[in-house]
Amino acid sequence: MRQKIVAGNWKMNKNFSEAEELLDAIAERLEQYKGDVQLIVCPPSVYLELASDYGEEYPLFVGAQNVSQFVKGAYTGEISAAMLTSMGVTHCIVGHSERRKYFGETDAMIAEKIKSLLSFELTPIYCCGETLEERNQNRHREVVAGQLSEALFHLTEEEMGEVIIAYEPVWAIGTGVNATPQQAQEMHDFIRRFILDKFGNEVANNLSILYGGSCNAQNAKELFSMPDVDGGLIGGASLTVEEFLAIRDSF
Ligand code: PGA
Repeated sequence: MRQKIVAGNWKMNKNFSEAEELLDAIAERLEQYKGDVQLIVCPPSVYLELASDYGEEYPLFVGAQNVSQFVKGAYTGEISAAMLTSMGVTHCIVGHSERRKYFGETDAMIAEKIKSLLSFELTPIYCCGETLEERNQNRHREVVAGQLSEALFHLTEEEMGEVIIAYEPVWAIGTGVNATPQQAQEMHDFIRRFILDKFGNEVANNLSILYGGSCNAQNAKELFSMPDVDGGLIGGASLTVEEFLAIRDSF
């Protein structure tokens, strides 16, 4: 059985007390939770330590939103995979389209970041997805295939077994226009087959592929009912406890 996952990407939102308030509210509701959906929060890095304190007490996993491709040393402003592990962080988003667009991240850099995460036993949540222009040109599969092969095909089968993929069409992120369940299913199926060709059946079947892009409590149920959609990477809708947990409960 593939792991069902709902991960919240807070992006650059919330001050310290707001972060604490949201974590408190999530933790309180986790006490009664009996389901099998893995919940991950990815707050800004300055709140990772706070979040991982909750992670010690509750079934809540903590992910970073970024990691350096370098291991250690004179890289001002950067945070290494070793530092994340040492704080109890278990996951890390990599390859998000906002980092590709605003911070010039390339597939080659992302490939190094993934290697670094895996060597410190952190689980990468690797984001891929096409722009609207690429979809309109019917190049979406080709674009995603390129992103997958450049960032992941240097991994061993065992390493790939540790990766989570998030399909996030750029045109759906923060726009209020989500991919339809059919569009999501079609791409998730494509991704799984593409991974299967390279890494084999077992890795592909166990791979959790999350959908991201304007996923909310209204549309999550239909999206999660698709056979190859194993959960969601949630931006805006992860910023309030009711909405975030309603998405988790959409399975
Ligand atoms: P959104 O963001 O849910 O606000 O569209 C998703 C993401 O960027 O991970």
